[in-house]
Formats: sequence, structure tokens, C-alpha cells
Amino acid sequence: MAIGWYPGHMAKALRELETVMRKTDVVIEVVDARLPVSSANPVLTELRGPRPRVVLMNKSDLADGAVTRQWVRYLERVAGVSALPVDARESQLARKLVKLCRALNPHEDRVCRALIVGIPNVGKSTLINTLAGRSVAAVSNKPAVTRETQYVDLKNGVHVWDSPGMLWPNLKDQQGAHRLAATGAVGEKAFDVTEIALFIVEYMVVAYPKLLMARYKLASCEGSSLSLLEAIGRHRACFSRKGVVDLERTAHLVTQDLRTGKLGHVSLEAPPETELSADAPPVEAVDELSPGPSEPEAG
Ligand code: G4P
Repeated sequence: MAIGWYPGHMAKALRELETVMRKTDVVIEVVDARLPVSSANPVLTELRGPRPRVVLMNKSDLADGAVTRQWVRYLERVAGVSALPVDARESQLARKLVKLCRALNPHEDRVCRALIVGIPNVGKSTLINTLAGRSVAAVSNKPAVTRETQYVDLKNGVHVWDSPGMLWPNLKDQQGAHRLAATGAVGEKAFDVTEIALFIVEYMVVAYPKLLMARYKLASCEGSSLSLLEAIGRHRACFSRKGVVDLERTAHLVTQDLRTGKLGHVSLEAPPETELSADAPPVEAVDELSPGPSEPEAG
């Protein structure tokens, strides 16, 4: 991984988060719209305690819109939490978010202090910069409170911390870890890129076969993931020597295509028991986004 999330790093991030959380009224949890469960970390539920939260499903420009809509309905209905699909680079989002934070602020008589929190690479710094209308947070993987943090006044009664709260990715579930690696949320060094590309191909065959065939001009999705990856390599002329497909180079190409949206709008997780546009397999665990102590039970 680019960042080594060893127990020491986690403990440090936890301490920093606990410190800023004490001064926070509303928690803005940023998840990746393509994998809202795997890109969340259940430790946040405990950390935020009774504070209200909003879930921002970021990078929704890369996700399958139909699946994202299912997630919003699911989160609002089952988890009882406000969820907004967003593109953190879009300036119009500030007004909506300010309105939502103000509505959730438990202290009507004072400014709402909001903390943006999420795993690395999910778009927290981009969001802060968009909200501030200028560059205040470095778009990189720096844990919170590495320097003196201050609030950025968003006007209209909302302040956000100028450094985001960093959570570590939850890698305990292997499927989730593969999804995180596929989107680039965990560094290349933590995974074998060929294994991740095979995972992507296997998933695409089930959930989005037409997108896969269209991108790489495949006649069908039949055969093993390995044979499909080789076919992709041949199509894109990724050869190590004459006639031999360079699997690693092909794997980089496939993962890049997924990450940049060249494979199309792809969601890697769908809410349980929902009718999906593209028979995407549902996720098994949704505990990470389950209702917190302050939120209503499913209605
Ligand atoms: P972080 O603070 O949570 O670690 O994430 P950060 O804002 O640094 O964003 C990580 C990468 O995700 C950046 O790309 C950023 O531009 C991109 N990004 C953030 N929000 C969105 C979004 O809504 N949609 C899309 N498509 N991309 C988003 P990068 O390539 O690492 O940096 P850059 O070259 O774009 O600056």
C-alpha cells in the first residue's frame, strides 16, 4: 500500500479523529459511490457517537447511476441517513451541503462545525477545496491534524475543518479489499495488479458484460477470466515478445480503464435485495452503513 496502515498508524489516526470529533457537530462521511460499503469504515459509527451525519457518495460520475439511486433509497430508508451522490469537483454542491448541515445541526443557536471524514483517496481534500472555493487541503493522503487545523467558513452558518479526518481502509473482507484495490483506494504495492484485473474482468462478465465486450471488442464473455484478459491484451497489443501477451501490462490497462471510467459507469456493490439494472451481485455485509445511535430505525 502507498500508506502502510499498520496498527501504529491506525492508533494515531484514531487519536486525531477523536480530538477533532469532540469539536464536531455534524459528520460528513465521504464514501466512494461505486463501493459505498467497502469504502466505509465501521469504526466511524463508534467514533461519531450521537452526532448526526450525512453520507456523500462521491465519484458518482464514475458509478452506475441506477445503482447509485438504489443506494440512496436504501440508505435513507433502511439506514435512516441522508445520502447525496456527488462529484466533489462540482462547485454547485456547496449550497446543497451547507443546507443539509444546517438542517442536521443539533445546536440551532450556533454555527455548525462539520468534519469531513473518509478513507484515503475517496475525495475528501477535493471536497474541502470545492467547498472553500480555493485550495486549502492538499489533494493527497495526509492524515488529519498534521499541522494546525482551522475551520473554513463556508458562510451561511457552517464551518468545516481545513484538514479532513482520515480513516483507514477496512481490508478485513477480501471481496471488499479487492474492490478497494480495483478503484485505487489502496496502493498498487498491496496487491498483485494481475489478480485485481482478473477480479475486475470476472465482475464485469457477471454485472456489465456488454460494457466489457464493447470496450475491448470481445466477441463474447465466454471462457475463463484469464483467457479474457489475454484476449484483451491481444486486442490492445500488449505483448512482451512476439505473440506472448504481457499480462501485467494488460492488467494495468484494465485497472486504469475502470478507474478513469473508460470501461463505462460501473458500480462494484449494490444494496441487498434490490432490483438492479445490471444484475450486479449484492454485497453481503452492510453493517458499515447501518444506523448509528442517533438515527431512526428502519421505517
Ligand atoms: P482524499 O483527500 O480523500 O485522499 O482524496 P483526494 O481529494 O486527494 O482525491 C483523490 C483523487 O480522486 C484525485 O485524483 C481527485 O481529483 C479524484 N476525485 C475526487 N473527487 C472526485 C470525483 O467526484 N470524481 C472523480 N472522477 N474524481 C474525483 P488524482 O488523480 O489523485 O489527483 P488529480 O490529478 O485529479 O489532482
